[in-house]
Amino acid sequence: MIVANSLCDAARPIGIFDSGIGGLTITKAIIDCLPHENIIYFGDTAHHPYGEKSSHAIQQYALQIANFMLSKNCKMIVIACNTASALAYSLVAAHVANQAIVINVIDPLITWLSKHYQQQHLGLIATKQTVASRVYQEKINNANVGISLCVCATNLLAAAIEEFGDHDILTSLLELYLTQSSLQNIHALILACTHYPIIKKRFVTFYQTQQQEVDIIDASAITAITVKQQLTAYNLLNKQRCIAVKHF
Ligand code: DGL
Repeated sequence: MIVANSLCDAARPIGIFDSGIGGLTITKAIIDCLPHENIIYFGDTAHHPYGEKSSHAIQQYALQIANFMLSKNCKMIVIACNTASALAYSLVAAHVANQAIVINVIDPLITWLSKHYQQQHLGLIATKQTVASRVYQEKINNANVGISLCVCATNLLAAAIEEFGDHDILTSLLELYLTQSSLQNIHALILACTHYPIIKKRFVTFYQTQQQEVDIIDASAITAITVKQQLTAYNLLNKQRCIAVKHF
């Protein structure tokens, strides 16, 4: 068990990582929720996109980054990437053991969906590897709350956002993916890649233009709440005002 023995433990940083800029959507929500925390952000741009890499490669990248975070004395590691959460969370959590708390971006969202979207038909878009892992389908089925899920890989989206940011070019790509027949008649669309909320307004505009009422859901705020709950539970909330965001 991880226990805070002194103020010094609470001042240890939260390490957050992703394959690139996507995890900054989670980081922003954590800073909004916990402005006193020290944060180290690792964007693994050398290996982006994770969604196109092998499971083994993704696991190795995640373990190396976890070791880096431990070398920086992080009290918590947030895997702010759905692909790494899907393929490497268990491995990283076992590796880190009691040296830090490890949070993924999938479990908090599954718990939240199970409360708020019972008996509904939802669409989910994610990277090729997240989709291939079937992690969302399995966890939703295990929750047993009558949610039916249509999962689609949007292979080029994360790379295009990493390259261009929130650029108009993304609108056409988005339309190509969202008009496919399997994503019709959904109550909500889950953005199961942390890059996608960067262009969230474009999703909203797309459905408004189509005159369809579709909720756009992402894990940012939900993950931030889980981070706060876990830090509180372990008495590791930082009470001092001191923010240092380092981007590696
Ligand atoms: N931001 C990532 C995710 O949440 C990864 C995108 C990628 O590197 O392919 O899945």
